[in-house]
Amino acid sequence: RIAGPCSMVIFGVTGDLSRKKVMPAIYDLANRGLLPPGFSLVGFARRDWEDQDFAQVVRDAVEQHARTEFRAEVWEQLSEGFRFVAGDFDDDVAFDQLRTTLGELDRERGTGGNHAFYLAIPPGLFATVAHQLKEHSLVDGGEDAWRRVVVEKPFGHDLESAQELNRALAEVFPSGSVFRIDHYLGKETVQNILALRFANNLFEPIWNANYVDHVQITMAEDIGIGGRAGYYDGIGAARDVIQNHLLQLMALVAMEEPTSFTADGLRLEKEKVLASVVLPRRLDLHTARAQYAAGWQGGREVVGFLEEEGIDPGSTTETYAAVRLDVANRRWAGVPFYLRTGKRLGRRVTEVAVVFKRAPHLPFAETATEELTSNAIVIRIQPDEGVTMRFGSKVPGTHMEIRDVTMDFDYGDSFTESSPEAYERLILDVLLGDPPLFPRHEEVELSWQILDPVLEHWARRGTPDTYPAGTWGPASADEMLARDGRQWRRP
Ligand code: BG6
Repeated sequence: RIAGPCSMVIFGVTGDLSRKKVMPAIYDLANRGLLPPGFSLVGFARRDWEDQDFAQVVRDAVEQHARTEFRAEVWEQLSEGFRFVAGDFDDDVAFDQLRTTLGELDRERGTGGNHAFYLAIPPGLFATVAHQLKEHSLVDGGEDAWRRVVVEKPFGHDLESAQELNRALAEVFPSGSVFRIDHYLGKETVQNILALRFANNLFEPIWNANYVDHVQITMAEDIGIGGRAGYYDGIGAARDVIQNHLLQLMALVAMEEPTSFTADGLRLEKEKVLASVVLPRRLDLHTARAQYAAGWQGGREVVGFLEEEGIDPGSTTETYAAVRLDVANRRWAGVPFYLRTGKRLGRRVTEVAVVFKRAPHLPFAETATEELTSNAIVIRIQPDEGVTMRFGSKVPGTHMEIRDVTMDFDYGDSFTESSPEAYERLILDVLLGDPPLFPRHEEVELSWQILDPVLEHWARRGTPDTYPAGTWGPASADEMLARDGRQWRRP
């Protein structure tokens, strides 16, 4: 899978996302030989830069964040296709310049009129840029050339604003040319959920309410909000990652087998699950949210969220969120899905734990199974990528005692191939026009529909709970599970 001739324009080249993810991924793709020789990259921003200043910015980003080794010959060839266009997003002259530049690249480097526009900018600017592209005849490539737009989250801040964004994009781009990035779907271990479930006969027969007690989806981060106060304050953990990454994970775990792995096949099944999600009636008892207070992390003292630079000291934005969701269908009736995420937690780990019901009967002395818990299949998304199965086994000795043991699959031990970074996979898919890993607007809207009532409930409640940095979240989250007779895993 090698991309055909094309160029990519990045709006927002000075932002964190471009520097840490997009630019390094483009270099890595080039380095792996997956970009065509004439591939060209155009930066667009309000900076007084020449092409070589832009090239230097990309080079710094690549040196700091690329995953593959720096190779001068790859860099030389790639950077010959770098151009910079200076201007504001509402600046007509700049967009004319952009069109001229893309035309020159088509002629000089054979990019064939195929252009991807990457909007690494706040969503409030999507509509402006989209309309500028249209006004300057950049949206329609005619019969022989494609035009695509790539958008990043936050895709709105509630259902209504998401619908508005979708409408604004739809006015300009046909739906098939809009690529919404959810970088979790670009992760190898996330795609493996589909392989695990649908390529094997071992799991699917027990993947339902007859055997599964509940599912826990955890995305824990040890970092605080870092330099992202401006973005994060007012957004919070639920909008930042539950609305997108965690609900997508849940959809992949809970969906039915798709008729095919095409974009439509996959998205349809995910949408069916999202449409079946129901919230608990008592949101006060079955959700939790909190902010980190000062504490210790990795042997270092860290400040609380409200003391972070750039955060309003009266902010009610949550840095931890947990919700219980149910899926109203035959497969999952009565099986809660607990989703949680937080910053400054005990360690960085993302996992999906499918926890099974106890065996219906244990023909052992009661003392023999005192230490036996529930069977579980844990899909380890990151950082320690793999799958763990937990089950009971006899402790060696002259008496019968049963204890939990684990059996592990580790990517590093089983494969010599390395995983591409999520952005590499997704950017390549954009250039190839391969949409299955990009949520379509229905999914985005369904996810907001699930979350909106929770967010409204929290907004009414005012101040969030707190948890010391470096711990596993607030007491209210533990109580939330305890009420259901369960507990959170300590990954
Ligand atoms: C982003 C969120 O989508 O995902 C960040 O905006 C978060 O707040 C990041 O830190 C985590 O991504 P990953 O791939 O490191 O789990």
